Amino acid sequence: MKKERIITEIKELKQRLNITIVSHFYQKDEVFELADFAGDSLQLAQLAVKDKNPNLIFCGVGFMGESVKILDPNKRVFMPKVASCSMAMMISGANYDENVQILNDHGIASEDILPITYINSSAEVKARVGKMGGMVCTSSNAKKIITKALKSGKKILFVPDRCLGQNIANEMGLKSAVIGIDENLKDADVLCYDGFCSVHQLFTTDDIEFYKAKYPDIKIITHPECDPAVCQKSDFVGSTSQIIKYVDSLPLEQKVAIGTEYNLVNRMREKNTFVLSSTKPQCPTMNETSLQDLYDTLKAIEKDECLSEIFVDEETVKWAKIALERMFEV
Ligand code: 13P
Ligand code: SF4
Repeated sequence: MKKERIITEIKELKQRLNITIVSHFYQKDEVFELADFAGDSLQLAQLAVKDKNPNLIFCGVGFMGESVKILDPNKRVFMPKVASCSMAMMISGANYDENVQILNDHGIASEDILPITYINSSAEVKARVGKMGGMVCTSSNAKKIITKALKSGKKILFVPDRCLGQNIANEMGLKSAVIGIDENLKDADVLCYDGFCSVHQLFTTDDIEFYKAKYPDIKIITHPECDPAVCQKSDFVGSTSQIIKYVDSLPLEQKVAIGTEYNLVNRMREKNTFVLSSTKPQCPTMNETSLQDLYDTLKAIEKDECLSEIFVDEETVKWAKIALERMFEV
């Protein structure tokens, strides 16, 4: 089917079946443009609470659709591709337990640990964190959540993104350590799991030096999933929505080099905007969703034969929801 025809059919099916379509900023333009709402992880989770439509198609990665299902278990959540974020895949419930055990072995008792999981994690990990008295954060609110958690007087166990944990700790003047790598776990305030985003590892300090040498006045803008050495050399560090807001506030003549996923950077502005990399930093799983997948999902929903509906078991929902709701309270 021709692209224009698929787009027309998607719009018609979506209307007739009464489905809300949401998209993360990293989705392909053709998918992003068909969404009723696009946003960062926090905005999309908030939408899940507000939107009363019982049927939702989520164009993003697995943990995002799962988070909506956890927050509103009565909603039917479909994903054109149940593609998994590679960072979220780096930690299972068993890995989480092993890391708590390592901390215990280093003389840090479980009662003295307050866990925080980045929203880029499975429902299973969120449930573990909820059960242990902890909460979820996103890149938009990680500083606020860590500030709140520190008031408990406990050490923070931060999973799964060591870069986000270290970047916020650096910003707040806290000590951080990576479990399994660093020795001085007892001295650290923020104990990070050794996970990372493979896409954001592509931005390097060499890239920053290259752009600074070429355009001395350029502004370097990065996502906090980038390596701490990269964030420390940046003029602005923020979540995807914070990056968009910051770039919008700059005059068009201001050159910017942005260290986050290609699809977002590419659609941000026409002039004076560079991807902070010599590679094309596309998130492979975000890019899996195509117009054809969106169309096929709507057709399958119409026939009540959709195989990509998200389900989370009741016990996991119970604890993962507590962890997510604690974030909203903050
Ligand atoms: P944001 O919450 O900033 O959109 O980040 C999500 C993500 O997966 C970044 O890689
Ligand atoms: Fe996960 Fe990285 Fe892709 Fe974001 S860019 S969804 S953290 S793999």
